[in-house]
Amino acid sequence: MDVLIACEFSGRVREAFRRRGHNAWSCDLLPADDASPHHLVGDVRDWLARGPDGVTWDVMVAHPPCTYLTVSGLHWNTRDPARARETESALAFVRELMAAPVGAYALENPVGCISSRIRKPDQIVQPYQFGDDASKATCLWLKNLPKLRIVPALRYPGRMVTLADGKVVERWSNQTDSGQNRLGPSEDRWKLRSLTYPGIAEAFAENWG
Ligand SMILES: C[S@@+](CC[C@H](N)C(=O)[O-])C[C@H]1O[C@@H](n2cnc3c(N)ncnc32)[C@H](O)[C@@H]1O
Repeated sequence: MDVLIACEFSGRVREAFRRRGHNAWSCDLLPADDASPHHLVGDVRDWLARGPDGVTWDVMVAHPPCTYLTVSGLHWNTRDPARARETESALAFVRELMAAPVGAYALENPVGCISSRIRKPDQIVQPYQFGDDASKATCLWLKNLPKLRIVPALRYPGRMVTLADGKVVERWSNQTDSGQNRLGPSEDRWKLRSLTYPGIAEAFAENWG
């Protein structure tokens, strides 16, 4: 199959498809971390209708930027009109991706305003359901693709933490006991946080390839 991975610099989903024999390409404004020849640098909107060699895409997996869409930042929009405009432009980009002339798509984003402004996700998954030691609710909007199959044996068990009120909760390595993200501030924090988890990348290619 001809597969476009929109907004990916890591190559994780691209390579999961390529390992299974598909003609998969990633595209991002940034160069690929792995310097792959199967990466397009530039605006993905220029590649939605046709890929290299004129191929049309059977499947697109898209990871549009979530900075102005996630639920945690939206409360700033009421006080900051410039930020509110960024949210509108991020939503317009999501709509363009969803309207792409591709046979099927999966668009991935954290919990945020795509659900209330465009449509509800078809599935919400967690990295620990696919073998990764991490918790991060990941929403999937699907067109002509099935939901990811959840295999109970793949589940990575978290550590059990007893909170001050006596409640016992499950936490994973990327979380503090109180449930915050562990990654401290740094220049490449956004990049590290935006990487697709390896187990989820494999599940995409296994289920949709
Ligand atoms: C949330 S990150 C996704 C990273 C991805 N999960 C990975 O593992 O590489 C969003 C990416 O979208 C890219 N991006 C933003 N606008 C774009 C556009 N118009 N065309 C292509 N890529 C774009 C950004 O450069 C950023 O790398």
